[in-house]
Amino acid sequence: MQHEDMTKDILQVLLSEEELRAKVEEIGRRISEDYQGRKLLMVSVLKGSVVFMADLMRAVTIPAEIDFMSVSSYGAGAKTSGVVKIIKDLDIDLHGLDLLIVEDILDSGLTLDYIRNMLMDRKPNSIRICTLLDKPERRKANITADYKGFEIPDEFVVGYGLDYAEHYRNLPYIGVLKPEVYSEAE
Ligand code: IMP
Ligand code: MG
Repeated sequence: MQHEDMTKDILQVLLSEEELRAKVEEIGRRISEDYQGRKLLMVSVLKGSVVFMADLMRAVTIPAEIDFMSVSSYGAGAKTSGVVKIIKDLDIDLHGLDLLIVEDILDSGLTLDYIRNMLMDRKPNSIRICTLLDKPERRKANITADYKGFEIPDEFVVGYGLDYAEHYRNLPYIGVLKPEVYSEAE
């Protein structure tokens, strides 16, 4: 079998490994300061945020717990409906914990808005949102991130956990996908 190169599908590198590393370090430092003496629980929403989560948790220098949840959008097609089904719920009881939701990208914000409201009902001490990427132009829900890595334009990006049709998550940087990759698939 021929060895395929993922990078041939990338139009442009938007955020390099070095830029990502520096930003993750900076966010980790801020979280470590802000959550000093509190009960930090970092929650990663699968699967897109796993790479960011893995790096960010190691940039946090204070005690922290981690947990994961997996959700899927209800309704047909790729459009986010805002109503989500829980595929895998958290294991940890949120009572009294300071919850930090770790996301790869804040787009329409509908999914995260739903998750946040659901978790709020479980009476954690606090809830904040940390997103690596933010596409503010696309926002539909009334939601903003407390910690934000980069604001990016309305372009479809992959890598560092982000996928197109479940591919490219293992690219170590964030890149813009070539338009012909979508059109071939249609
Ligand atoms: P929303 O904020 O509810 O619209 O959904 C955000 C989700 O859409 C993210 O967690 C990603 O899985 C996906 N998403 C949005 N923009 C992109 C992108 O540019 N590349 C890859 N996935 C994206
Ligand atoms: Mg996705």
